[in-house]
Amino acid sequence: MRVLVTGAGGQLGTALRRVSGERRVGNDRSGGDEWLFTDVVEAAGTTVGLNITDREAVKEFFEWWRPDVVVNCAAFTDVDRAETEREAAFRVNRDAPRFLAEAAVRLGAALIHISTDFVFDGNGRNADGGFIERSRPYAEDDTPAPLNVYGESKLAGEKAVMESGVRGVVVRTSWLYSPWGKNFVKAIMRVAAERDEIRVVGDQSGCPTSAMSLAEAIAELATAAAVVLPTPAQLYHFCDAGVVSRADFADEIIRQAGIECRVVPVTSAEYPSAAKRPMFSALDTSKITRDFGIAPRPWREPLAECLKELKNGR
Ligand SMILES: NC(=O)c1ccc[n+]([C@@H]2O[C@H](COP(=O)([O-])OP(=O)(O)OC[C@H]3O[C@@H](n4cnc5c(N)ncnc54)[C@H](OP(=O)(O)O)[C@@H]3O)[C@@H](O)[C@H]2O)c1
Repeated sequence: MRVLVTGAGGQLGTALRRVSGERRVGNDRSGGDEWLFTDVVEAAGTTVGLNITDREAVKEFFEWWRPDVVVNCAAFTDVDRAETEREAAFRVNRDAPRFLAEAAVRLGAALIHISTDFVFDGNGRNADGGFIERSRPYAEDDTPAPLNVYGESKLAGEKAVMESGVRGVVVRTSWLYSPWGKNFVKAIMRVAAERDEIRVVGDQSGCPTSAMSLAEAIAELATAAAVVLPTPAQLYHFCDAGVVSRADFADEIIRQAGIECRVVPVTSAEYPSAAKRPMFSALDTSKITRDFGIAPRPWREPLAECLKELKNGR
């Protein structure tokens, strides 16, 4: 099986590189699978250059390397910046997945595309259609209603993939963190180390997810892709198990890291940001467990593993 990874320099791509056991480019045959890692910026010896917004480049690349499975980890992920860079966000999050799907269809390859909990608005509805506070995790057939440009562009990407007729899956995940790149865990560690008290939003709840957990799930899907992935692509949710507020997540990060710092929960209104975020975006993962036997771990365990790596300076 030949697995092509895009956006390999990001959090998930890096985790997937680790999980696949691949450190060299394109010549590992352990377990019979060959993985190739690409990103918009080439890194000599480890990552091949592939800008997925370049339709012709994608087509030529696919015809050259002929992947069996493509894992799209590339995305425009800066939620606040997307508000002012709408076109760029849609190019990467909507158009590029369409180019990948088209090229995959041509070759008969499968596509594993990643999406987000931010396709949801966090509102519950009562029997009359009025708004109520939501507390039930979102299932794949719940209606999306993004609150921000990032969510809109990711939703458009999901649709582009599923309407292409490609074989594969669209995996929505949430609150991704890792020892690499920019994320909530690293930001909290940094500020908590400098202050006695930090203010963290307490009225947004979701499922923190380790990029390593998601990479394990994706590697399982990728290596089984030839046999089991559906046509056309279907939606699945994957996140680590457990629902928590951002403030409680911060509290646990600080507790596990052994840092002396108090978390003061504040409201979203007291902590304004360019993009509006859902108050509740937990994902129900029972479908991926039922169909693929992939069972998420309680979120505190992978968090401990991430913090251990950060402590060891990796
Ligand atoms: N981060 C989260 O909290 C979160 C939550 C839910 C869902 N997700 C989804 O999970 C997936 C992985 O997220 P992540 O946190 O690993 O993202 P990330 O760390 O931001 O990595 C994305 C990678 O894609 C690359 N990229 C951007 N434009 C590209 C292009 N035109 N061609 C090729 N590569 C390009 C980026 O390169 P540059 O850095 O050079 O731009 C970066 O290396 C994404 O689909 C994201 O939407 C993330």
